[in-house]
Amino acid sequence: MSLALSPSTQAAPTRHRRDDFVVRRLDAPLGAELTGLDLGSALDDAAFARIHRAHLDHHVLVLRDQRITPRQQIDFSRRFGPLQIHVLHQFQLPGHPEILVVSNIVENGRPIGLGDAGHYWHSDLSYVEKPSLGSMLHAQELPSEGGDTLFANMHLAYDTLPAALKRSVEGLRAEHSYLCKYEALRARSPWRPRLSDAQIAQVKPQVHPVVRTHPETGRKALFVSEHFTTRIVGLPEDESADLLARLFAHSVRPEHVYRHRWRPHDMVFWDNRCVIHLATGCPDTLRRRLNRTTIEGDRPF
Ligand code: SIN
Repeated sequence: MSLALSPSTQAAPTRHRRDDFVVRRLDAPLGAELTGLDLGSALDDAAFARIHRAHLDHHVLVLRDQRITPRQQIDFSRRFGPLQIHVLHQFQLPGHPEILVVSNIVENGRPIGLGDAGHYWHSDLSYVEKPSLGSMLHAQELPSEGGDTLFANMHLAYDTLPAALKRSVEGLRAEHSYLCKYEALRARSPWRPRLSDAQIAQVKPQVHPVVRTHPETGRKALFVSEHFTTRIVGLPEDESADLLARLFAHSVRPEHVYRHRWRPHDMVFWDNRCVIHLATGCPDTLRRRLNRTTIEGDRPF
């Protein structure tokens, strides 16, 4: 069984003010829940500033009960910056190229979305020159079992690195590539189309610092992930692989991780500059569909 969700028919309040909603820190190493907020309403500047502050403080925001349209998701996302268009244009929501459909559903023999999105830990679009500031994922249809998303706090991961390991990553840079695991995923998944030359040209590997400084808070965070980080620049292959494996394992220790169990109409907004995430998957027989927007960030430093 799966739960299909439909937008509300209730009239939304005209304008949210700063204190209309509640921000509650989750009992987890990152994350806060926002209730009493309707993103379908206008937000005044103070309300928007409070959401922005909560995003910087908690890194993952769970906005409950958002009965909003794709257009409203796009409009809210745009308040944080320009939106990025995913290279797999096959899975854009029709009429809304800014939305990537994340779904395991196949209709008339064709997947309607990217069914294996996020099956390795990653930060969205870390493989482009200006990786994404944040992503918003809005539940459309949820499975009755499974389908959770895990989020790891990369500030904590950096802060808790053993001293010698922390010293050894200082000043290092690493390559990120969209293509790194693409063929392996394609071999076992019906959702990965063969990429055209134009798509391959769009995702040339990029080099970013292994430890980045958050451009808004100044805090340091580890910025590597098993999905897209291929090698540490300047290290022999075996040393690079060994160091990356240690960093990956440390990043996702249970004490750094929040498990999000989706509820109908949840919108989750995370900070890709200091969070990596993982889709845990659900049984193939159950339907799961979410709409994702990604906001362009800065070049990491
Ligand atoms: C993603 O990596 O953006 C998808 C996460 C999910 O489906 O839970």
